[in-house]
Amino acid sequence: MSLKDKEKWDKKYGSEEYINGKEPSSWLEENAGLLCANGKALDLAGGEGRNSVFAASKGYQVTCLDISEKGLQKAQALAQERKTKITTLLADLNNKSLPENEYDLVICFNFLDRNMFSGIRQTLKSGGLLFYETFTLDYLKYSNFKKEWVLEINELLHAFRDFRVLRYREVDEDPKAFASLVAQKL
Ligand SMILES: C[S@@+](CC[C@H](N)C(=O)[O-])C[C@H]1O[C@@H](n2cnc3c(N)ncnc32)[C@H](O)[C@@H]1O
Repeated sequence: MSLKDKEKWDKKYGSEEYINGKEPSSWLEENAGLLCANGKALDLAGGEGRNSVFAASKGYQVTCLDISEKGLQKAQALAQERKTKITTLLADLNNKSLPENEYDLVICFNFLDRNMFSGIRQTLKSGGLLFYETFTLDYLKYSNFKKEWVLEINELLHAFRDFRVLRYREVDEDPKAFASLVAQKL
C-alpha cells in the first residue's frame, strides 16, 4: 500500500466535513436514467462515498474501494445516514487486481491511474456501464496538479474505444476542466 497516499488522504478526510460533499457527482445524477437499477457496482477511489451511496440508493450492491480508512469510515456513516447499505474495501489501486466479469457498474470520479484501465475493462460484465469523470490537461491552468494526474484531450474516449460510448464531454470552465464519460462494455 502506498503509505504516503494513505496518510495524505486520511489527513484530508480527518475532519467531520465531507470535502467532496454528500451529494453525488452531477454527471452521475444527470445520467442516472442509464443505470439498470440492480446488480453489483464498484466505486473506484470512492473516498467519502457520495457516489457509492447514490448508486446504492438506485438498487446496486455497491463496493466502495479506497486507500483511505478515514474516507471509508465516512462513506459508511453517509450510507447509514441515507439508510442505504454499502460495502467498503480498503485497497491500493496501484497494486490491486480486480476480479474478472464481476460488476454491472464501475464508477470512477476524480481519480486517475492509467494502469487501472485494463482492470476496469476486465472487471465489467458484458453490457456493464462505466461512469468516469476526472481532470484534463486544461486543469493545469487552474491548479498545481501534476501532469500525470490529468487526462490528455480525448484520452478517455480513446482508452475505452472498444466500448459503446453513450455520453462524453470535455469541459473547460475556470476553475475546472475535466472529461466525463458513460460507456457500455460490449
Ligand atoms: C479527489 S478524491 C475523489 C473521491 C471520490 N471519487 C469523489 O469524487 O468524491 C481521490 C480519492 O482517491 C483515493 N486514492 C488515492 N490514491 C489511491 C490509491 N492508490 N488507491 C485507492 N484509492 C486511492 C483517495 O483516498 C481519495 O479518496
